[in-house]
Amino acid sequence: MSTLSPNKNLILIGMMGCGKSTCGRLLARHLQREAVDMDALIQMRQGRSISDIFAAEGETFFRDLESALVNELSQRTGLVISTGGGVILREENVRTLRESGRVVWLNRSADHIFDSVDMAGRPLAQAGKQDFLRRFAQREPLYRRAAHIIVEDFSSPEATVRNILSRCGCL
Ligand code: S3P
Repeated sequence: MSTLSPNKNLILIGMMGCGKSTCGRLLARHLQREAVDMDALIQMRQGRSISDIFAAEGETFFRDLESALVNELSQRTGLVISTGGGVILREENVRTLRESGRVVWLNRSADHIFDSVDMAGRPLAQAGKQDFLRRFAQREPLYRRAAHIIVEDFSSPEATVRNILSRCGCL
């Protein structure tokens, strides 16, 4: 795979809790790029949490904010973007993100995520493990289709990041 050029973004996708924000920060530091966490930016601009947005306005309102932010960030270059786990649900988001850079899927086991990550603040992870696993199974082909690169090594955030950097020709 060719070296990630400076005018391309590096975009992390994957199930909630898979480590997109942590890896995004580490990647940005390593590449001396700006890190953008989409959920954090949406919360800051809205002045309320993701849970509050979902509760007050519903999922479609949130998805519209998310799509608008995908369009905005895709006009920029050289970013490391940590997306929200559901960004792949809209085909136009996927098309736009793929055109703006290299899309990396952190394919961490949903089973392991649910057992080890604090799901507070994630409205779509409140209905129990079976629901979470079912949601992952529905999304799995969408993540796969969206990804240029699939990462499955999660021994540590640093190892994951090294793997991504090497596959992007940045090591
Ligand atoms: C969502 C994931 C969340 C957030 C929202 C919806 C999803 O982001 O965007 O709660 O549909 O998977 P994280 O992946 O950062 O938890």
